[in-house]
Amino acid sequence: MARQQWSSRQTFIMAAIGSAVGLGNAWRFPGIAYQNGGGAFLIPYFVALLTAGIPLLALELSIGKRFQSGAPGALAKLNKKFEWIGWWGVVTAFCICAYYSVVLAWVIDYVGLSFRSPWMEKAAADVFTGDVLQVSSGMFDLGGFSPIVVIALVIGWFCMWYCIRHGVTSVGKIVKYTVILPVILLGILIVRAVTLPGSWEGLSYYLTPDWSKLLDVNVWAAAYGQIFFSLSILFSIMIAYGSYLSKDAEVTKDAMIIGFADAAISFLSGFAAFGTLGYLAQISGVAISDMSHTGIMLAFVTYPEALGQMPGGSLGVILFSLVFFLMLFTLAIDSAFSIMEAIITAVVDKFGWNKEKTTLWLCVIGCLASLIFATRAGLYWLDIVDHFVNDFNLIAIGFVECLALGWMFGAKKLRGYLNENTDFKYGVWWDIAIKYICPVIFLFISITYLITNLQ
Ligand code: PHE
Repeated sequence: MARQQWSSRQTFIMAAIGSAVGLGNAWRFPGIAYQNGGGAFLIPYFVALLTAGIPLLALELSIGKRFQSGAPGALAKLNKKFEWIGWWGVVTAFCICAYYSVVLAWVIDYVGLSFRSPWMEKAAADVFTGDVLQVSSGMFDLGGFSPIVVIALVIGWFCMWYCIRHGVTSVGKIVKYTVILPVILLGILIVRAVTLPGSWEGLSYYLTPDWSKLLDVNVWAAAYGQIFFSLSILFSIMIAYGSYLSKDAEVTKDAMIIGFADAAISFLSGFAAFGTLGYLAQISGVAISDMSHTGIMLAFVTYPEALGQMPGGSLGVILFSLVFFLMLFTLAIDSAFSIMEAIITAVVDKFGWNKEKTTLWLCVIGCLASLIFATRAGLYWLDIVDHFVNDFNLIAIGFVECLALGWMFGAKKLRGYLNENTDFKYGVWWDIAIKYICPVIFLFISITYLITNLQ
């Protein structure tokens, strides 16, 4: 059977942006930027985007396209010995998918809760632990599941399966909505945030540069880590998406478009997040520095706390809660299903199984695996897996990928693949990024990571 293809270049770009732009932009970036020097963080971030993000993104797209195969298959066609690197990415993708889908489930619960917005009457932290996670005795209660999380998880997996059930044909039809809608919703939230009293205070927190942070290696590590997570690279996703391009498609411009669109949305999300936190600081008297700005707490506790106090009475609260959680849902769904699509592509390319059946079965297995994060101790597991998968593991994959491809196979030859069918050719800078900059940075980060964690 002929391999499926994206219906058009725009569809492919939308799907790749859809995968890249996810919760990582809305919740991970603003908090990380704030912790790592505010406005000054934009410097390591853009350096990471240009020296590792875009070069690796273009590389992954081009090998997927050239070999018309998911990550393990494409790497095996470069050199049989590289196949395992692809599987490593696939396994990582599976771990991420297992917890990402649980976060998606929480988002679904919050969309439902938005209609009555309980954060109007009680503390948002109690809504999260009490109404959603249904934790009775502290966060790490191991006892069983929260029924509403399990129901939302099944709904979430059903939505993911539905979007990818016919492979890229169905993905192509969905991504128009899941890319444009969250951007519109984000626009509404930004306008609302920056017109709230106190918002400028929040924004100056977000953007005031702390230049001294640029000397801190952890800040650079955070920038590179954020770029990889946010661009969905190193997880085999972009190789899979590239493999559905026609062999005569170009990738160099597309990688730039995807990379810059993702960075722009991350940067803009900070305005919505910190503008709102500034408002919350003003009305609650809690200093912004004492609030939680990162990860799950920002999205599910701090932000709803602010939502509960939006001007405009209960209608205003309900409206903005819906806008916020629908934005998170539409942001997350196309990232979540892109992970599954990459895993399915790898498996189907390897074993030649029927794609639609494999999709169904792998979604069922994924759903069962994600149940571990849907237990009441899920938050605890999620934290461990998130740190392990995103910190050391990702950097290690990146390092091995650069060594295998840039050194053993040869960056120059790969650049030849990359520059096929385009007038926008990457120069020697690309070889330098893949052969020297990326591996050195990966190594440096791994060593510091090991040293700090072994102490
Ligand atoms: N890029 C997505 C985001 O920013 C997350 C993601 C990571 C998606 C890994 C797929 C794989 O949220």
